[in-house]
Amino acid sequence: MKEYYYLDNASTTWPKPEPVYRFMDEFFRCYGVNPGRSGYELVIEAEKMVVETRRLLATFFGYSGDFQRVVFTQNATDSLNIVFHGLLRRGDHVVTTRTEHNSVLRPLHALEQQGVIETTYVEHDERGYVDPDRIGAAVRPRTRLVVVNHASNVLGTVQDLRRIGRIVAKTPALLVVDACQSAGAIPVHCEAMHIDVLTFTGHKGLYGPMGIGGMIVPEHVDIHPVRVGGTGVDSNNPEPSAEYPHRLEAGTLNIPGIAGLNAAQKWCADLGREQSKKPALAHAEACLAAMESIYGREVALVRQLEECFRSIPNVTVHGPRGDQPRVATLSIGFDKLPPTRAGEILDADYHLCVRPGLHCAPLVHRDAQMIEHEGLVRFSLGYFNDEEDIDQAMKAVTEIAESF
Ligand SMILES: Cc1ncc(COP(=O)(O)O)c(C=O)c1O
Repeated sequence: MKEYYYLDNASTTWPKPEPVYRFMDEFFRCYGVNPGRSGYELVIEAEKMVVETRRLLATFFGYSGDFQRVVFTQNATDSLNIVFHGLLRRGDHVVTTRTEHNSVLRPLHALEQQGVIETTYVEHDERGYVDPDRIGAAVRPRTRLVVVNHASNVLGTVQDLRRIGRIVAKTPALLVVDACQSAGAIPVHCEAMHIDVLTFTGHKGLYGPMGIGGMIVPEHVDIHPVRVGGTGVDSNNPEPSAEYPHRLEAGTLNIPGIAGLNAAQKWCADLGREQSKKPALAHAEACLAAMESIYGREVALVRQLEECFRSIPNVTVHGPRGDQPRVATLSIGFDKLPPTRAGEILDADYHLCVRPGLHCAPLVHRDAQMIEHEGLVRFSLGYFNDEEDIDQAMKAVTEIAESF
């Protein structure tokens, strides 16, 4: 029996791969200095690691332009705020979807309230899929951004980004993608998907630590910096640097966080080489092989859960059915039990760590008439889950549904 059955990987993946813990500790101890500010040996080592991480991420996300356009931020929320405040101007229109997380909804709402922008929220079907043509139809002459969540953190639905990208590319609008729930589980390719700005967080499917995220801002996009300060370059100029990534990276970088992301990228590539038995694979191909294995494993487990939960009376499964495009996130409702109470029982009686309630994506809950039920209970899987976790979840939900 395990001490915890951790099925809350959509909040943050846990545990992290061992090399991530090890490298963060080692690097911070040996080279935890401030890169970009001086030229001594320790600084050069730290700078090398930061540059290498930008290169790894550019390759991982299918971006072949200048790796200096990979910008580090605190997390995806930070990236999205920087994008919206740096790109949107009075009179602009934004198209987004009702599957978005509050990291998209709240900053857009604030800009709407201030009278800066107008927003159109495209609906999804009952399983959570947005029709790409409806996104295209919502674009107007003044649409500056189309903002799309690749995978829903509530339902686990995966949107058809390639089609959305093709449609948006024919309009003057820029496509901004929130890849928080897909990055590391399914391929996200900036160029093949026509993504203009990609935003990501480090601590979910990328298996890095909290407090590090980023975005890829290709050369044809310039984001006006909303946060300015010291960058270590062009210090005598009162204006913010025009150079990327400094333009959007004022202040000291999160070196331990970047080191964690660096180790996580290498862990992913090593896993791919090992699983495919091709030790010579380059980073991008190795990570694709790893994702095939990570995704295959997670989805096989989540399908077992789905099948079991669908067969339990008094339990409703939301989101994708069978082999519809998905990540390994599954939300359910109990007919006669509020989700927060179910979460308490799952924790206290079964040592299951899940996410009950409203999951920062209120429009999804509203559309599923789940606001009055106080949300859903979300089970989300990661690479380190196994059959034992799934057996425990199936047993727990079956017993709870029987007793209420
Ligand atoms: C779909 C989605 N977008 C954005 C975020 C925000 O990520 P972070 O809290 O790391 O900024 C999350 C986090 O749960 C998410 O699930």
